[in-house]
Amino acid sequence: MAKAAASYVCSACAATTTKWSGRCESCGEWNTIEQETPLASGPKSRSLGNTRGRTVPLMELSDDEAPPPRTSSTISELDRVLGGGLVPASAILVGGDPGIGKSTLLLQAAASFAKTGLKVIYASGEEASAQIRMRAQRLGLADAPVKLAAETNLRDIITTLEAERPALAIVDSIQTMWADHVDSAPGSVAQVRACAHELTTFAKRSGTSIIMVGHVTKDGQIAGPRVVEHMVDTVLYFEGERGHQFRILRSVKNRFGPADEIGVFEMTGAGLAEVTNPSALFLSERGAPSPGSVVFAGVEGTRPVLVELQALVAPSPHSQPRRAVVGWDGNRLAMILAVLEARCGIPFAGLDVYLNVAGGMKINDPAADLAVAAALLSAREDAAIPAETVVFGEISLSGALRPVGQTQNRLKEAQKLGFSAAILPHGGKTGPVKGLNLTRPADLTAFVGEVFGAG
Ligand code: TYD
Ligand code: MG
Repeated sequence: MAKAAASYVCSACAATTTKWSGRCESCGEWNTIEQETPLASGPKSRSLGNTRGRTVPLMELSDDEAPPPRTSSTISELDRVLGGGLVPASAILVGGDPGIGKSTLLLQAAASFAKTGLKVIYASGEEASAQIRMRAQRLGLADAPVKLAAETNLRDIITTLEAERPALAIVDSIQTMWADHVDSAPGSVAQVRACAHELTTFAKRSGTSIIMVGHVTKDGQIAGPRVVEHMVDTVLYFEGERGHQFRILRSVKNRFGPADEIGVFEMTGAGLAEVTNPSALFLSERGAPSPGSVVFAGVEGTRPVLVELQALVAPSPHSQPRRAVVGWDGNRLAMILAVLEARCGIPFAGLDVYLNVAGGMKINDPAADLAVAAALLSAREDAAIPAETVVFGEISLSGALRPVGQTQNRLKEAQKLGFSAAILPHGGKTGPVKGLNLTRPADLTAFVGEVFGAG
């Protein structure tokens, strides 16, 4: 009667299947499917039977609950992403590629919280205490009252935390931790899940906030942070391109604040520095107006961010022209190219198309559609868009332009940074912004006509 349980799991995306395969059907990664060992403890697949449990006390939904007290880290970019500061008893996962700067960020956070008076423990399974102290010296934080532990045994760590009762414990990384009640190697899906579960329940039970580090891995031997996202209260990803100094901390899930909020940092020789005005920084490397370059007025979370989009369109020597995208969605690019061809009669067949978001930023905002179309057309027609113009708007498959959220916010940011014109969809509630000349085409064809002449 019992349904056969899924017993294989992808270590990259946490999808479950009933049979092994070389490639995960869900995320397309190779060699990431591994067998899931059932947890050793607890009664196995038996039904609850007739044994009675205890009665759980029920509460009113309407009970007045004060908002959780929050502690500021004094790093405002971090506070913003946490939803206004650290909430007691919360479990937070910080994911990111190896070497992106997670340990650096969290050591800086640990030091800041400790300096505000919180008791902070930093447990590392990756580095020896001497290495962490060296890093702290380099960051100028050697005097911060943070307690270090170099340990991988989760039972020992939790026992220590129980005795010490810190307000915040940082566990770097979840993939190096080892829970002795689970019979598989550190880094496996079963271990990573068990460790995250133990740490999360410890946080709820004790009131200690836990921050776990999770490496994003493409290696099937080690489970990625995706496999524990559902257990924790808050999931932050630390992203950026290796060659660039910008780093973006993005909340993808937050039970205590808005998701999709970003904090922007710059990796310097002395650690991560906050970037309070990301638009100015992202645009600082912009040269004279050139074909293919367009400034997109985007919004990340509640925060307007202006970034430069760069497109290159060139005759293709290949029978299958190339479409390469950095920082945006490749499928979305294909859609924009198809709409330009089908609705405006502007073909890209036989042309290679490259699109890049400057500064190593990754954009998810649907309002980028129109800016991408503008960059593509500008590159194709070899006609530069005037430098002091921003562009944003969503394009539908019919070729219509849809107004987007936070239009006023985007316009104000553009004006603040010295832009004098904006191209955006017609419609929606938008008041004029002083000093900003608005062009508002009704659809993509009108846009092509107004901005590029006959097209
Ligand atoms: P790290 O925090 O160890 O990355 P993660 O924990 O995500 O694996 O960061 C390592 C990189 O950061 C390394 O390439 C060196 C660089 N870095 C700096 O540029 N400046 C600094 O002050 C520090 C501490 C590191
Ligand atoms: Mg690290």
